[in-house]
Amino acid sequence: MHLNFHIFENAATTAQAVAELIKEKAQNTTAESYVNIALSGGSTPQSLFELLADEYETAIAWQKVRLFWVDERCVAPTDVESNYGMTYDTFLQRTFVPGENIFRMRGEEIPEFEAERYRNLLLKELPARNGYPVFDLVLLGMGTDGHTASIFPNDLSLIDSEFSVAVNTNPYSNQKRLTLTGNTINNAKHIVVMITGEGKAELLKQLNENHPETKKYPMAYITGKVDYYVDKAAASKL
Ligand code: 6PG
Repeated sequence: MHLNFHIFENAATTAQAVAELIKEKAQNTTAESYVNIALSGGSTPQSLFELLADEYETAIAWQKVRLFWVDERCVAPTDVESNYGMTYDTFLQRTFVPGENIFRMRGEEIPEFEAERYRNLLLKELPARNGYPVFDLVLLGMGTDGHTASIFPNDLSLIDSEFSVAVNTNPYSNQKRLTLTGNTINNAKHIVVMITGEGKAELLKQLNENHPETKKYPMAYITGKVDYYVDKAAASKL
């Protein structure tokens, strides 16, 4: 296989494997350091967040985990569309993660100003390599059009951007987005792409076979240290 796949029975066991990975990374962190994780939104990580809230209160050393975001919709945190809001409702309201370890993208601010503030924040809080911040773990999802983070097939320039964080527009809804760029994502020590459900099976097959069609998919340009955590349904055409 071309890509690194970890295949699990269903969405729940896929989420569990990612929770265990976070636990392991927190265990392997020295007392003075943190595991810096960038979270995605969308529906796929919701079961992970619910699992973390229900079963990982004491299993993970949360004081060693710092949370950042891969992307955010430019709406208030209380809006149903907010990625932070979804994470708060499913997980963060249980308050295991100390407030000072949570670094949300502020979707309610003027996007260009917020992108700059977040770039500076990443510069201050994270180590850097090649001029881009280094996350320990970036958790990604993939849309059925091959998008990842808020980098869409209509504009691949955000893969190789001079900026670590950029403003983009969702081409379908025209909603403004804040997103980590491809260079920042690829700079991470570890990237985990969570994909579940039959709806993405064909796309995953194309990506795995390096099909010419995939040149237009942002996901095809995520080429750092990437592991695909997928369920059997998503892997059904591999
Ligand atoms: C977002 C995302 C986005 C997401 C994919 C997959 O804010 O929408 O971070 O990149 O990961 O669209 O979304 P689903 O998990 O809902 O299929």
